[in-house]
Amino acid sequence: MAFKVEGKIALITGAAAGIGLQYANELLKHGLKGVTIVDFDAKKGAETVQKLNNQYGRKVAIFIQTDVTKTAELKHAFGEANDTWKSLDIVINNAGVMKDSAWEMEVALNCNAVTTGSLLALEYMGKHNGGKGGIVVNIASILGLQELSGCPIYVGTKHFVLGMTRSFGQPYFYNMTGVKFLTMCPGVTNTPLISDASKFALGNFEGLGELLAKELASLPDQEPENVARGMYTLITRGENGSVWVCEGGKPIYEVEIPDRRTLKKN
Ligand SMILES: NC(=O)c1ccc[n+]([C@@H]2O[C@H](COP(=O)([O-])OP(=O)(O)OC[C@H]3O[C@@H](n4cnc5c(N)ncnc54)[C@H](O)[C@@H]3O)[C@@H](O)[C@H]2O)c1
Repeated sequence: MAFKVEGKIALITGAAAGIGLQYANELLKHGLKGVTIVDFDAKKGAETVQKLNNQYGRKVAIFIQTDVTKTAELKHAFGEANDTWKSLDIVINNAGVMKDSAWEMEVALNCNAVTTGSLLALEYMGKHNGGKGGIVVNIASILGLQELSGCPIYVGTKHFVLGMTRSFGQPYFYNMTGVKFLTMCPGVTNTPLISDASKFALGNFEGLGELLAKELASLPDQEPENVARGMYTLITRGENGSVWVCEGGKPIYEVEIPDRRTLKKN
């Protein structure tokens, strides 16, 4: 059965700007009742929330300044969001960076914070804990489905997101919690993450930044609004555990990950 966005409450990390902001916009367009914007950029977060509330003429968004890599801060954000809206239905763990030059921070954000966000989503929405179920969308990338020389550690973090989200998307968890886990894999999307990427390649490898820029430029690009349209399709139609790609300005599509036993080389 299709999931209805109308009247629901969402929490989105990294949504003060970039693709995350467009997720908020798109879901509100489809009747979302309220969204919590969780981001560490205080200025952009406040501006975004003011803009959304003015646009809809009522309180549809709140901002909670949070560094999602700090577990205590992310916990506090979930608590504040719950106190405000008294409900939670959709969590999008979106905040992420492509910055192999600061790989420990990159892993903390792309892996650890997505893990913390997934566990908090289960705590607040899981039926095993008195909740009513819901949806978690974790943001991987097409680079969770392929290799790329220019940013090997980023690629690793996005494979992590895919593996963890698919595993939480198994029936054991769903039957207990009523929470669906979905993976979104955007292709190259025009945000600062891409325009700045070559400055943040791993150090000490001559030409790696240029190679990364070339590799990214060879992939079809798109605007954040297209990924946001895909997010609406994913949330309303995605089966638990499914993985979807949104690339090149085209409609989102589901991918099938081959069983490893079919991958044997000889
Ligand atoms: N842009 C792309 O081509 C692309 C492609 C595939 C996947 N993605 C993924 O999509 C997600 C969003 O990317 P984007 O392009 O919109 O990035 P972006 O850099 O435009 O926006 C990221 C947002 O996250 C926030 N943020 C960063 N670190 C944070 C932290 N520690 N705590 C809280 N907020 C923090 C930033 O303030 C910003 O608002 C990321 O997970 C990224 O890996 C992006």
